[in-house]
Amino acid sequence: MSKVYVFDHPLIQHKTGMMRKVETNVKDFRELVKEVAMLMTYEATRDLPLVDVDITTPICGTTVKMLHGEDIAIVPVLRAGLGMVDGMLQMVPNAKVGHIGVYRDPVTHKPIDYYCKLPCDIDKRQVFVVDPMLATGGSAAAAIDFIKERGGKKIIYMCIIAAPEGIEVLQNAHPDVDIFIAAKDRELNEHAYIVPGLGDAGDRLFGTK
Ligand code: PRP
Ligand code: URA
Repeated sequence: MSKVYVFDHPLIQHKTGMMRKVETNVKDFRELVKEVAMLMTYEATRDLPLVDVDITTPICGTTVKMLHGEDIAIVPVLRAGLGMVDGMLQMVPNAKVGHIGVYRDPVTHKPIDYYCKLPCDIDKRQVFVVDPMLATGGSAAAAIDFIKERGGKKIIYMCIIAAPEGIEVLQNAHPDVDIFIAAKDRELNEHAYIVPGLGDAGDRLFGTK
């Protein structure tokens, strides 16, 4: 079974709390999503492999630890996942970015896919699938299905707010995919929205409602 990591870092908790407030405007919401994604990336990349590299400082030669150069792909689930990309790229600027378009049917709440474009060497990359919200888990499970169908092997899922129901669905669908979240919420309501949640992440990011 995959592991679930809930980040308890005070900065992540504070910014996630600010994001939830109904009075937080589009500009501030967008900024908070970007900042939380950046901080989460710092935590989620903790296990990236390091190698010894010989260098010369202005004083002498020495051996330092550097990233092994494991290639990373960030794959936001459109639309709301886009809000997390810039913050992540600030931490890992050489990462490639794929896109997967999935939305929830408003009546059935089932995921409907409409776009998928991934780096051609996705099979060799450590893939971070990102989306601020994990509700029923349908969108995340479908997005990871697409990536695996196209050769993706090493996949991590990162979201800001998750419902217990979504975590269970994702763990059952993809037991090999570890899940990193900023906050685990109470439940889903009758419209499959996360409670207390933050509302519709896509609308709050792009000001569409
Ligand atoms: C939201 C969110 C996730 C999905 C989560 O996207 O960004 O992708 O819902 O719900 P689930 O776990 O029940 O599948 P939405 O469908 O609202 O599309 P949007 O990003 O285009 O607004
Ligand atoms: N998608 C969102 O944006 N918010 C929710 O609470 C559930 C799904």
